[in-house]
Amino acid sequence: MLKKPYAVIILMAVFWGVQVYADGHKVAIASAHPLATTAGFEILDKGGNVFDAAVAVSAALAVVEPAGSGLGGGGYWLLHREKDGVETLIDGREKAPLAAYKDMYLDKEGRVIAKLSLDGALAAAIPGMPAGLVHLSEKYGQLPLAESLAPAIRYAQTGFAIGKRYLKLLKFRSGLIKQYPTTAGIFLNNGKLPKPYSILRQPDLALTLTQLAESGRDGFYSGAIAEKLVNGVKKAGGIWTKEDLESYQIVEREPVRGQYNGIKITSAAPSSSGGIVLIEALNILSGYNLQKTDDITRKHLITEAMRRAYHDRSLYLGDADFIDIPVKRLLSEDYAAGLRSSIRPDKALPSNMLSGEIQQQPEGTNTTHFSIIDDEGNRVAATLSINFPFGSGFVAAGTGVLLNDEMDDFASLPGAMNGYGLVGGVANAIAPEKRMLSSMTPTFLENDSSVAVLGTPGGSRIISMVLLAALDFAQGNGPDSWVRVPRFHHQFIPDVIEYEKDAMTNSEIMGLAAMGHQLKAARYRYGDMQAVLWHKTTQSLAAASDKRGEGRAVVGH
Ligand code: DON
Repeated sequence: MLKKPYAVIILMAVFWGVQVYADGHKVAIASAHPLATTAGFEILDKGGNVFDAAVAVSAALAVVEPAGSGLGGGGYWLLHREKDGVETLIDGREKAPLAAYKDMYLDKEGRVIAKLSLDGALAAAIPGMPAGLVHLSEKYGQLPLAESLAPAIRYAQTGFAIGKRYLKLLKFRSGLIKQYPTTAGIFLNNGKLPKPYSILRQPDLALTLTQLAESGRDGFYSGAIAEKLVNGVKKAGGIWTKEDLESYQIVEREPVRGQYNGIKITSAAPSSSGGIVLIEALNILSGYNLQKTDDITRKHLITEAMRRAYHDRSLYLGDADFIDIPVKRLLSEDYAAGLRSSIRPDKALPSNMLSGEIQQQPEGTNTTHFSIIDDEGNRVAATLSINFPFGSGFVAAGTGVLLNDEMDDFASLPGAMNGYGLVGGVANAIAPEKRMLSSMTPTFLENDSSVAVLGTPGGSRIISMVLLAALDFAQGNGPDSWVRVPRFHHQFIPDVIEYEKDAMTNSEIMGLAAMGHQLKAARYRYGDMQAVLWHKTTQSLAAASDKRGEGRAVVGH
């Protein structure tokens, strides 16, 4: 049960995207699902800190938003602990199995076999989420793991009402899910889509979470659950072994850092490309006074910065444990100045002048993000994923764990597009135990008066969404505005600006086209940004959840 003050505040925040100011209250949480936000406050109520709350929110999302993230996936938790200034990135990204190899998704002629890295057990990499939760709880939390996992276990046992967004994503992947009786048994009703607001119970997942709660990482990575996972994957044509699970380790990494107009940026380091691409784009843009330029030029300059930063993503970025990444150069202001000098104020640079071929991009889909901050400045930005909605579609019998299809984030072949139209080369080639390059961008922004915590799902578009939100923060706006910003995106290849319909006026479309840009309206609005803000000077908190999703932002405690 919620304590009274929460109930009032939660009622106040029932409408998505509502920015809630509640001076005197202590913690702000924004997540993609109301029950996940509630789980966070439940754990704070029990005496947990923001890191315990982050464990609770992550685990709850794994249950109530199974399309987006889960124990069968991975992700990144960016943390800041105020009392000693510890700032770290928990890299819980999945790893390629030991038996993985560079050409594993190619046919005899060396062509990519469609969907092999997206659908079914062979698409699944070794999950990092369970290890991440254990580590986050044991090293940074103050409650036992079992306590922080309790709300998620309860949601899995007793069930929850499924929403419209869930059903839309389920419909999108139902063809795949029907191929796997165990998965269909959980998410479909005799092979049919369930009714809106019907109750989804996940008893096997509740048992797996209980194993994790009782035995820590051994509860997932060795013993009975591990055996079921490995056997199930093997039977379904996958290549997992016991050693893969036993040897999986999260890595704590130094986040990447940058500056933009007096704002300190802290974000995800490789194995995610998010932080580097974000800071590189902001470094390029720092040479312009964007507030003084007209709207067409402003959008042109932002697009050209995105083009160049995403181009470097495709050339240089991959798992830092496997390749040398010129991080210092990519983040340097001099390097950005060089890139800036190649930008004409009146003309687009075709991407094939940078390098590569122009190709079409298929539509992208789901993942999750949540943000937490307290009024001491402790904070967590976490982006978690199983990649495509419902991941690989595969659940090993008796585990309830939907496995990811994150192997698709590798470059199966240099220059070939992945599910988000991204291209890569040797830096992101498949290798045993390597992490596939991510775009997840959990981020902190800090200036003299405030600290922002933000992030979003959205595949390759994650970074450009966070970039637009950062520029909005720089204009002095609050979280309700950052999550609302109409979005446009350019990722080097395909050479096109994809825009939400309200992001461009007709005259902007014409003006940008006259400069040589190609433009395409997005078929739907995208992203599900979750953001919180701590106003240092007034000691107040604010939170906002993207109206494009079904999340909830609450300031409370
Ligand atoms: O790590 C990545 O970049 C992707 N697997 C994230 C996928 C994602 O955000 C899907 N959401 N729309």
